[in-house]
Amino acid sequence: MSRKVAVLGGGKMGEALISGLIRSGGRGVDEIMVTCRREERAQELAGKYGVTGTLDNAEAARWAEVLVLMCKPQDMGVLLSEIRGHVTPEHLAVSFAAGVRTSFVEKHLPDGVPVVRVMSNVPVMVDEAMSVITAGLHATDQHLAIAEELLGYVGKVLRLKETHLDAVTATSGSGPAYFFLLA
Ligand SMILES: NC(=O)c1ccc[n+]([C@@H]2O[C@H](COP(=O)([O-])OP(=O)(O)OC[C@H]3O[C@@H](n4cnc5c(N)ncnc54)[C@H](OP(=O)(O)O)[C@@H]3O)[C@@H](O)[C@H]2O)c1
Repeated sequence: MSRKVAVLGGGKMGEALISGLIRSGGRGVDEIMVTCRREERAQELAGKYGVTGTLDNAEAARWAEVLVLMCKPQDMGVLLSEIRGHVTPEHLAVSFAAGVRTSFVEKHLPDGVPVVRVMSNVPVMVDEAMSVITAGLHATDQHLAIAEELLGYVGKVLRLKETHLDAVTATSGSGPAYFFLLA
């Protein structure tokens, strides 16, 4: 699988991951593409990090094999419909969306596409994330290792069964944001 990574959804978490990948040397700027819904945001990220920014999710899916799905859960259906025709089982979809099951992502992509679901948290911004990953139906150990490698640049990574992901979302996923609010 090629080293190119497309981050689909250049919001807070997407930017933090891109920043971490570049700062750590995990990926070069020419190995990263980011997609956004708004032109000014795509230009902002391209200008700040030197990566390629685009509004075209299909282009990103054709360019990279590793697709990091970084939009909000409520936007996932639209995002998946935009890439569906350009994704094959040679790709790997790494979904960050809280509460979105691997089966949902699999159902909206062609049969056989490997999906890894991630529950990370806001300390990804300072390379101190606790990320939990789980494999969908078609994701192998090798796919989990790719997700682990990417997330390892911005914190710790743990593999768990998907049945535990809701509890992870409630604790390490949401916890730091609540403490931040209290602080
Ligand atoms: N923030 C956290 O602490 C946290 C923790 C754990 C997990 N997560 C998960 O991480 C994901 C990202 O969260 P976030 O906080 O980074 O959200 P965010 O800042 O809202 O970023 C999502 C980005 O995706 C863009 N987007 C939406 N639909 C798109 C599409 N079809 N094509 C391209 N870009 C699209 C949005 O564009 P607009 O700017 O136009 O809306 C936005 O910039 C979410 O699924 C969330 O559940 C977040």
